[in-house]
Amino acid sequence: MNTLSALKNRRSSRIFAPGRDIPGDTLIELVDCGRLAPTARNVQPWEFVVITKKDTLVKIAELASTGRFIAGCSACIAVFCSDTKYYLEDGVAATENILIAATDMGLASCWVAGDKKEYTEDIKKLLNAPAQAKLISLIALGYPAGDPKNIPPKRAINEVLHWDHFI
Ligand SMILES: Cc1cc2nc3c(=O)[nH]c(=O)nc-3n(C[C@H](O)[C@H](O)[C@H](O)COP(=O)(O)O)c2cc1C
Repeated sequence: MNTLSALKNRRSSRIFAPGRDIPGDTLIELVDCGRLAPTARNVQPWEFVVITKKDTLVKIAELASTGRFIAGCSACIAVFCSDTKYYLEDGVAATENILIAATDMGLASCWVAGDKKEYTEDIKKLLNAPAQAKLISLIALGYPAGDPKNIPPKRAINEVLHWDHFI
């Protein structure tokens, strides 16, 4: 898949083929794509925790009220950043890179919120993250199991694109 196709075809998928592990090299490649994202002042404040153990995935799903489907994914990448001025922007850039790369590799994925959630601190504890680390996102990954259901619509290009002036 080329870059534009991956960008335009990426959609959140919350159902994954059961019992299919993602090879370690593939997971490393995904994190490699994440760590190459741009960062303010090039501080690269991130750390990536790759979770493949089933019991840990189930525990994350139990804690993450908006990510119950993580229990059925093959792997989850938790993106953390240290508490820098632009930690959220930086961590989000890395997250999006990983989602696009996953699409390119034919993987299904879904971004699950990490920051500002009632479960944030509990997941940090579960993953032995330092107190000051910011949990940016939990990226659920797996092989597709059919087409995603209820695909949310996108706003049209002519509605969101403004030439020269906002209005
Ligand atoms: C910051 C952010 C947080 C999100 N958190 C969740 C979440 O906790 N659970 C979930 O199922 N989807 C989550 N999503 C996925 C969105 O629901 C999804 O991107 C949106 O509905 C658009 O669909 P698409 O990804 O197919 O374009 C999140 C997306 C973003 C950008």
